Amino acid sequence: MEPSQPRPPAGQIPIIGQGVPIVRSEKDKILILAFREMAKLYGKLSEKYRQRAFNMAADILSNYPHSIPTGAALRNIHGIGESSASVVEEWFQTGKIQRLEDLRKRVSEYESRITLVVKSPEMIQMENTIALFQTIHGVGPKIAEKWYLKGWRTLDDIKIDELSNAQQIGFQNLAVLKEKIPRSEIDIFKKYLERMLLNVQFQICGSYRRGAVESGDIDVLLMETEGYTLSYIVQEMTKRNLIVDQLALGQTKFMGIIKLSPTHKPRRLDLRLVSKDVWSFATLYFTGCGELNIKMRRKAITMGLTLNEYCLTKSTGEIIACPSEESIFRALGMSYLPPTKRDN
Ligand code: CTP
Ligand code: MN
Repeated sequence: MEPSQPRPPAGQIPIIGQGVPIVRSEKDKILILAFREMAKLYGKLSEKYRQRAFNMAADILSNYPHSIPTGAALRNIHGIGESSASVVEEWFQTGKIQRLEDLRKRVSEYESRITLVVKSPEMIQMENTIALFQTIHGVGPKIAEKWYLKGWRTLDDIKIDELSNAQQIGFQNLAVLKEKIPRSEIDIFKKYLERMLLNVQFQICGSYRRGAVESGDIDVLLMETEGYTLSYIVQEMTKRNLIVDQLALGQTKFMGIIKLSPTHKPRRLDLRLVSKDVWSFATLYFTGCGELNIKMRRKAITMGLTLNEYCLTKSTGEIIACPSEESIFRALGMSYLPPTKRDN
């Protein structure tokens, strides 16, 4: 309940911070918020006069030292006009503010019209083209826009001799990165890793582990090892000119580009740092194939279990320990599939 306070003389706005702090009822608070929202909505419609009036009403009401009044007392508050007063009355009588609801509708219609107008097909094409050009390493929004203004619309339109050296490399890499990686090259990369990461256990997963003769990228899981952060490992691989470009680097996930030697093609590499206790689940997940992952998750669900890349749990939250991939298959009542049998 509201503390009972003497009403101030009509029209007088006391100064905040002096005397008893104002305790607002939920109803008063919502009303003040509604005034703020209406001001904001009028602002969006560029109705500056109303925006100001409703903001002022919100200020006055929130500084009013008592419960928000109705009737004559309300209309006597300096700065509260008739339209604000009728909003207050409606709120206390019906619990609704029709003006606010109408405004919300008007603004949402207005905004969808704006997007329709602004996002013309040309605009959408421009955005898409600029985004496409920025997939080239060394090309930011400004250059991408410049190229768009030259009339270039696809990667085929790009005139190589008009690019800087760095951009030429980025452009050539882009095409090469779409090429599949021969298994023999990943074999060599694996040997490099074995020599470099003497103390860190790793597993190349993805299609390579499934025995594919060529892969889209190289997916490597690294086991969390004391003294080896992911950024340290990435740094070491960069020092050895193996990693030539970083796309993303976090605590547990790296995405970037490697080159086995200056004459080798650039290749996409994903590294993930995974702790020992989730290793079996992570290797299973990142080996795939995707369809098998889905199938195993579905099987888990039929048994009232949840399988993800970290664990297998009962609906009670209890964890089912599976230290190996074999034990995950077993826990799901499935016969074990070696990695090379996991496609379809
Ligand atoms: N994966 C998944 N769901 C995703 C992305 C990835 O289940 N949305 C798993 C799959 O098991 C996949 C593995 O992560 O096999 C690696 O992903 P990706 O490299 O995209 O697939 P690959 O099977 O390795 O195929 P590619 O040769 O094209 O790299
Ligand atoms: Mn892959």
